[in-house]
Amino acid sequence: MQKPNMFEAKKRDRKAIIKEEYKTDPKYKNIGNGLKYTVKTYGCQMNEHDSENIKAMLEEMSFTEEEDYEKADLVILNTCAIRENAHNKVFGLLGRLKHQKEENPNLIIGLCGCMAQEESVVEELSSKYKFVDIIFGTHNIHELPSILNKSLLKHAQEIEVYSIEGNLVENMPVRRDSKYKAWVNIMYGCDKFCTYCIVPYTRGRQRSRMPEDILNEVKKLKEDNYQEVTLLGQNVNAYGKDLDINYSMANLLEDVAKIGINRIRFVTSHPWDFNDEMIDVIAKYPNIMPYIHLPLQSGSDRILKLMGRKYTKASYLELFDKLKAKVKNVSITTDIIVGFPNETEEDFKETLDVVDYCKYDSAFTFIFSPRVGTPAAKMVDNVTLEEKETRLQRLNEVVNKYSKENNLKYLDKIVPVLLENVSEKNAEYLAGYTDTMKLVNVKAPKEYLGKIVNVKITDVKTWSLDGELVEVNLTNDEKNI
Ligand code: SAH
Ligand code: SF4
Ligand code: F3S
Repeated sequence: MQKPNMFEAKKRDRKAIIKEEYKTDPKYKNIGNGLKYTVKTYGCQMNEHDSENIKAMLEEMSFTEEEDYEKADLVILNTCAIRENAHNKVFGLLGRLKHQKEENPNLIIGLCGCMAQEESVVEELSSKYKFVDIIFGTHNIHELPSILNKSLLKHAQEIEVYSIEGNLVENMPVRRDSKYKAWVNIMYGCDKFCTYCIVPYTRGRQRSRMPEDILNEVKKLKEDNYQEVTLLGQNVNAYGKDLDINYSMANLLEDVAKIGINRIRFVTSHPWDFNDEMIDVIAKYPNIMPYIHLPLQSGSDRILKLMGRKYTKASYLELFDKLKAKVKNVSITTDIIVGFPNETEEDFKETLDVVDYCKYDSAFTFIFSPRVGTPAAKMVDNVTLEEKETRLQRLNEVVNKYSKENNLKYLDKIVPVLLENVSEKNAEYLAGYTDTMKLVNVKAPKEYLGKIVNVKITDVKTWSLDGELVEVNLTNDEKNI
């Protein structure tokens, strides 16, 4: 058994990163025979992708997937620790799972992800939530088969969470959720330590994957007919800084673009590390999508400094202008936190001012949530929750106004859309995204799934567009799928 420790998790060293190849252990092959699993995922794309690895490992152990967790024999919650409400949702579901286990004592319950890296959460689970069978962290996802096996043999809770990252594991099995677009990790962890954020503690120090491993993965995805890859990291612009090979995010983006996969995206870009070389590469390659998520967090220099973001309102706007000038038709989205400790009305107005200037295509907006162990959680805060809620509402009104305005520019235009799902609202419609990441619903038959098609936009909403297919060139073979 190993429990997490936030103090240890904060430590950073410059030891070389050791690479390890994942090996499937045949002795666990039959553990899941006849059993069904559900993995419920909270949080960011990183977690979505980790869940794809978890699902593959479970399927190698002969478990089969079940959408409805109430019918599953094994339920794994892949959790997020970023804000209190993510935390509360997980504890809410654990309450329901407790009842489910009372009715079905054979139910196996697992918890992993960022909450499993939190000392206080694991303490609570080990004292009050004994019915949770396995708890494992973000650094040892690859050990799931042996952890599950141990817990089943001893019929007791098995906790295995390392505070410090181990080897960088390559070649994990993966059961991708989509046949058309894929997540590709380019780096793990984060060294930025923004004062409000728990990620550097839950994901460890920054570790970049070797370029050849990433490029081989993308080549394979292209061979398998994937249309889109999203390069993933907490700070993709800092890619390579921890490797001694003089190879940057700009180099990686260019090499990925040359592979020729149709669509390349990347998240998240910290404004701090966004250099001109990168902008030039994005502008040069048509298969790098004109879409950039550029978190602002706050428009006030005073608050940015307290947050440890290392840029100012002016330098952020300079970068924003450069992107708009150099990358044709670029859409830019952002993240904003309101109610950071002692944020004044003036500070908040600076944020509104940036939003008015940038007119973002969309923005994720949050109320500051104190996270145990982070410096901001210890700051004295004189802003009431009521005031924070009012600011969030005021901000959302402005943000939504600009989203709609930006979307209106698309009316009657013809845009490329990768059709990737049947629409949730109407089975005759397919849904997909433009190169600029606008969600579009289109009336089209299912054989168009996985195709990048031209769509004429016929109606515009705040969060999505409606459109109709125009001049699609499908061969007869493709129509007969
Ligand atoms: N690595 C990314 C952010 C990942 S977390 C970056 O640096 O841009 C996603 C978003 O959650 C952040 O951009 C921030 O807006 C929000 N967030 C993080 N910690 C938070 C906290 N303690 N309270 C409220 N929002 C938070
Ligand atoms: Fe968190 Fe900052 Fe790292 Fe983003 S850059 S994950 S906000 S510490
Ligand atoms: Fe949440 Fe962890 Fe991602 S805290 S946002 S799941 S890195």
